[in-house]
Amino acid sequence: MCEKSVLSLFSIFNIYFVLSYILTRNMPGILHDINEPCQKATFGMGCFWANDALFGATHGVLRTRVGYSGGTSPNPTYKNISDHTEVTEIDYDPSKISFGELLDLFWANHEYGFVTPIKKQYASLILYHNNEQKELAELSLKKKLITYDSKITTEILPADTFYAAEDYHQKYRLQQHPLIYETLGLTSELLQFSHAATKLNGYVAGVGSKKDLEKDLAELGLPDVVADYVRREWRENEGGTLYC
Ligand SMILES: *[C@@H]1O[C@H](CO)[C@@H](O)[C@H](O)[C@H]1NC(C)=O
Repeated sequence: MCEKSVLSLFSIFNIYFVLSYILTRNMPGILHDINEPCQKATFGMGCFWANDALFGATHGVLRTRVGYSGGTSPNPTYKNISDHTEVTEIDYDPSKISFGELLDLFWANHEYGFVTPIKKQYASLILYHNNEQKELAELSLKKKLITYDSKITTEILPADTFYAAEDYHQKYRLQQHPLIYETLGLTSELLQFSHAATKLNGYVAGVGSKKDLEKDLAELGLPDVVADYVRREWRENEGGTLYC
């Protein structure tokens, strides 16, 4: 009797330990919040799942989220995007990556190019957040015009209201991996603002360098089994397409 109750207490404790390990939301030790000074950049380059992953794994990018912007109609949704464009909003540390370097990634990674006319949802779009970004964006467009004699469709506009996309679009690549999703305890808020989710969403899609991957894995506070899983996914998907 006594022995049994000791045993059952022990196993209850065990179950509690295992369950809380699996179910804990916002695991302590996981690097969700990072408080570096940052600036925003917003780009439309085709389907936003791809760019969420591309920029997420880029050194100096702290957080990304996807949404709808560039239009005038209120409260766009995926089903009714209206006159808006799919965009990725990037929080970056300007001491680690410049807006010029982000622009290089912008020009090099369009899903449908920037010459072929395409519906507004997938338009090539730079939404600038200050005068410096505006000038750099316009200068980069001028340089492209020297190379491409056909008309470039890219528009450069001031950033206005950003409407976050539905949760199932945020960190879309990462959401295909329940092990990581559960480990990070991703809530609606974390899907848009977690540093760890931003980085891992790129790495599981095979983006980023081995060096950055290892540096981030050392900092993100993941259990070893999850870090190994991310390494394997990165290796298997490296060089694959990001496009939707
Ligand atoms: C889509 O959004 C526009 C602009 O907000 C609105 O006028 C229209 O009624 C919406 N259409 C549907 C089917 O909800």
